[in-house]
Amino acid sequence: MTPPHAGSRSNGQATSRGSEADGEPTIDVRLDAREWQEARDAEVRRGLSADQPWLSPVWFYDEHGSDLFDEITRLPEYYQTRAERRLLEDHAPELAEHGVVTMVELGSGTSDKTEVILDALVESGRLRTYVPFDVSEATLRQAIDRLRVRYPGLRFHGVVGDFHRHLGAIPEGGPRLVAFLGGTIGNLRPAERKRFLFDLDCALERQDLVLIGIDLVKEPARIVSAYDDSRGVTAAFNRNALTVLDRELHADLDPDDFEHVARWNEDERWIEMRLRARRPVHASVADLDLTIDLRPGEDLLTEISAKFSPEGFAAELWESGFEEVETWVSEGEEFGLVLARPYC
Ligand code: AVJ
Repeated sequence: MTPPHAGSRSNGQATSRGSEADGEPTIDVRLDAREWQEARDAEVRRGLSADQPWLSPVWFYDEHGSDLFDEITRLPEYYQTRAERRLLEDHAPELAEHGVVTMVELGSGTSDKTEVILDALVESGRLRTYVPFDVSEATLRQAIDRLRVRYPGLRFHGVVGDFHRHLGAIPEGGPRLVAFLGGTIGNLRPAERKRFLFDLDCALERQDLVLIGIDLVKEPARIVSAYDDSRGVTAAFNRNALTVLDRELHADLDPDDFEHVARWNEDERWIEMRLRARRPVHASVADLDLTIDLRPGEDLLTEISAKFSPEGFAAELWESGFEEVETWVSEGEEFGLVLARPYC
């Protein structure tokens, strides 16, 4: 995990030297390092002390974890990234017809899919500003540094924030397009998802748009193999959460004590990734004064990844104040991209 830089101020002001007017990127830091760490620690405490212990998927993503995720996106079994990229390539020109002036990307990371959209929007001649929104200031600055070279005429306004709390930091300048790609919305539980979509609706206006990538329900075996690949990359990615926890919170969990499990939950329509104890585990998280005891066969839930039907997702959007504009579905109905707008 890459926390925001220590010393960042959470005063909602741009912290870079320049201003948008002179072409220097603006970075609006809404999340400071201490606040982020405290929230994260409280969540680990809650998760690991629960009857059914769990860890947030944020623990996957240190530098090594991000490299492993990158490798996952190229696996033959992991269709999502390719399918979404293809959809973006095919439909970016249609997106550009909406006259987007500001493009916002939630959880922007270092996504190279962004460029597919930016190319089309820049081409349309209307786009002025790109707003990457991410919890990691380092990641965000890297992305801006790379994209500035490619799009010299564009303004960059980064937001270091948590999209559960800081959607109000999305700058004015409509029509705005808010993209939430990769199927990441599937990491949220239904109640969290509803709240997130509702908050997003509140942060937007009638002429704005959202573009959301959703993985679609399909034959369970197909989904399971995307999360339990033959080369064991996903297993390494899953176990890496423990390595990160050990390093960052001085825990002593041994990743080798755990087996990677990917299970399709038919009732919830989501994939569960778990780390199952192969032998008795007695471990501690020193920084949190916490102990973890597991019997063989007991497990930690490390991620859920929900799958959707286009109709079901459109209905969820409607309940949160959005009307569907367009849903693009990939060949073989593997993945969907949904374009929607607030209906009032
Ligand atoms: C980045 C959350 C979309 O759920 O498919 C990939 C993460 N986990 N393999 C997903 C992930 C295991 C991924 N998302």
